[in-house]
Amino acid sequence: MHQTPIYYYSSASGLVRTFAERLARPVYNLAEREHRLSEVDGAWVLLTPSYKTGNVDNDTIPEAIRRFLRSPHNRRHLVGIMGSGNRNFGAYYQRAAHEIAAASGRPVLFEFELSGESWDVTECRRIMAELDEALAARGPVAV
Ligand SMILES: Cc1cc2nc3c(=O)[nH]c(=O)nc-3n(C[C@H](O)[C@H](O)[C@H](O)COP(=O)(O)O)c2cc1C
Repeated sequence: MHQTPIYYYSSASGLVRTFAERLARPVYNLAEREHRLSEVDGAWVLLTPSYKTGNVDNDTIPEAIRRFLRSPHNRRHLVGIMGSGNRNFGAYYQRAAHEIAAASGRPVLFEFELSGESWDVTECRRIMAELDEALAARGPVAV
């Protein structure tokens, strides 16, 4: 079964990276230039933390993710979004994932806090396995 890749951004604190690396599937860190400038070769899932900046717009989407989503090709093949956040941020909890979902029309597939608990990893693996099956049933999509 083809494994849908996850492209994620993780800052120096590495909480999202820790989670992503436990998913037992291809994962790519958009903090690395090589991946940020690449183009996907099929359906993919985005995993983003939220970073409230404190400026007037309180922008929460990491710049590396904005850069990757500037590609119409990457945007077209995005199938879903996952978020890591911290409930201490109140109304801004998971803001980046929610904003990208609203702008792209793609669903939020899963949310967790910080680097997630072991049951978050289990649940995320299950969701991704279901997605792999659904995409395999859909068959290849013209690009
Ligand atoms: C400066 C700062 C701002 C943050 N802003 C938000 C926020 O607006 N909403 C949210 O849900 N989490 C927020 N978080 C929590 C991070 O999204 C969360 O800890 C995430 O797991 C960090 O992933 P990383 O260590 O891989 O970068 C913030 C964390 C920091 C340090």
